[in-house]
This record gives sequence, structure tokens and C-alpha cells, in this order.
Amino acid sequence: MQRLAKKWRRSRTHIGFVPTMGYLHEGHLSLVRAARQRVGQSGKVVVSVYVNPTQFGPQEDLSRYPRDLKRDLKFCRAEGVDIVFAPGDAEMYPVKANGNYSTYVVEEKLSQGMEGASRPGHFRGVTTVVAKLFNLVRPDVAVFGAKDFQQAAVVKRMVRDLNFPVKIIVAPIVREPDGVAMSSRNKYLAGDLRPQATVLRRSIKAVRQTVAAAKQPVPATKLRAIVGQVIKTAPAARLDYVEFFDSETLSPMTKVLRGMHMALAVFIGKTRLIDNGQL
Ligand code: PAJ
Repeated sequence: MQRLAKKWRRSRTHIGFVPTMGYLHEGHLSLVRAARQRVGQSGKVVVSVYVNPTQFGPQEDLSRYPRDLKRDLKFCRAEGVDIVFAPGDAEMYPVKANGNYSTYVVEEKLSQGMEGASRPGHFRGVTTVVAKLFNLVRPDVAVFGAKDFQQAAVVKRMVRDLNFPVKIIVAPIVREPDGVAMSSRNKYLAGDLRPQATVLRRSIKAVRQTVAAAKQPVPATKLRAIVGQVIKTAPAARLDYVEFFDSETLSPMTKVLRGMHMALAVFIGKTRLIDNGQL
């Protein structure tokens, strides 16, 4: 991959990159299209498919995370992706091979709250693998989804702080017809669980309505109560966190105004889903 990227860069070929963990859906493919738009037909679009073990906690779904490379390749071919880079664990983290992987990239501010608080070590894994992938693919532009809003902010910060020569683009959330954000993890939602996943989107809408109707900033405690009411309508749903924050700094806000952002994580049965939106 690195040799190919080096060759492309020597010939001034623009490289657009979409890092993924595979089991691709329309959300991922929208990022591929954004990458293609950026680099044009003369450029190259690279998609990585790698379920990165360092971003999963010990109790999380690493082993059962859905994988289907054949299907991913089919989608990528149909989208005109030039290269699908699907490394193995032994190449990315040669710890099992010779026990000597010991370097990590850590962002220390934006990765503290929300997903970072709920999933200790998660962003350390994300920034590490994304840094590694950037060094392998050497992209001019990389596209991330707003579905993982905090992740995009953390990656942008890493790129700025460590001077990675790459432009980060954040593409909008792609949703199912019922409003549920597309996610590889939606596959876990069998039978009557799937319709209950709409509580995330419905919570955001309820909060947005309240904030829009209010003449003054709304206390976060009041909005939390509203989210609690919506979550209650789904028997299998359990709120992990909900946060109201400034879109740039991700700083939590106790008084919430239009234009601020909210994000939440909800367990639907055993499956943990996330969503976010601007208010
Ligand atoms: P993964 O969850 O596969 O997501 C890959 C990219 O697709 C991320 O940038 C994510 O935000 C975006 N994405 C997922 N669902 C989306 C949706 N419904 N609409 C728009 N974009 C969506 O995020 C990761 O993998 C990993 O953490 C990774 C960055 C690859 C590092 O391992």
C-alpha cells in the first residue's frame, strides 16, 4: 500500500481515503462518493477495511463485529473504488508475531467525554490506527462521517496537532427511511429490537423542538428529562449517555441554545448505538 501510494504521489495523483471497519452500507458509500468528488476521475480512491482491535474494550463486540470482505469488495467495485486495503492484525500490530508493538497516538482533550468516557481507550485505538493508515495510504483528503461526530473532531485535532498533510472532510449522516442512522451494528438488531432503534433520532428531534420553541437557553437537565421520556417508550432501550455541547470544542453546556450539538448513546438490548445532531 505504501509503495503504491508513493508511486501515485510521485506522479501527482490525488489520493482520497475512506477508512472503515467494513460491513459497508450506504453511509460508508456516501463517503466514497465524497472522496471521488474531491480527487476526480484522475485521482485514486482508497477504502480501508480493518476491524481495529485496539479501539475495542475487553467487554466489547470485537469478535462478533460483522465481517464480509467479499460483499465489501463488491460494493467498492460498483462505486469505482481503486484500492481496497484490508490488512491483517499481524501486519498492523505485530504484537503476536514478535511482541514488540508499543507506540500509540493519544489525543488528550476532545476524546475525554462521551464515547471516550463510556469506552476507555477507544479513541487511543482510533487515533493510533488512523495515524498508521494515513502513513500507509498517504492521502491528500480523507473522509469521515458525521455519524461519529466526536471521532471526526478528534481526528481533525490529531491532524492539526501532528501536522499530517491531509485534509479532513466530514460528510453528513446517512439514515434509514425510519430515521435510524445507518450502522454496521444495526445488523445485531433482530425482530422487535430494530424498530426501537428510532428512539435515538426521536430524542434528538424532541430536544431540537424544545430548544427551537424556547425563548431562552434551556437547562440541560430539562432536555435530559425529555430524552429520558422518549427512551422510556422503547422497552429494550437503556440510555448510556446524552450530552449537549459546543460543536467546535465539544465542551458540555448546561444551558442549551440553537446551533449547539447533542450526542447520545443508547443500548437497544445488548447493542450499543450512537447518534447526534445539531440543535
Ligand atoms: P466505521 O464504523 O466502519 O465507520 C467508517 C466511517 O463511516 C466513519 O467515518 C463513520 O463516521 C462513517 N459512517 C458510518 N455510518 C455512517 C452513516 N450512517 N452516515 C455517514 N457516515 C457514516 O469509524 C470507524 O469505522 C473506525 O473508527 C475507523 C475510523 C475506521 C478507525 O478504525
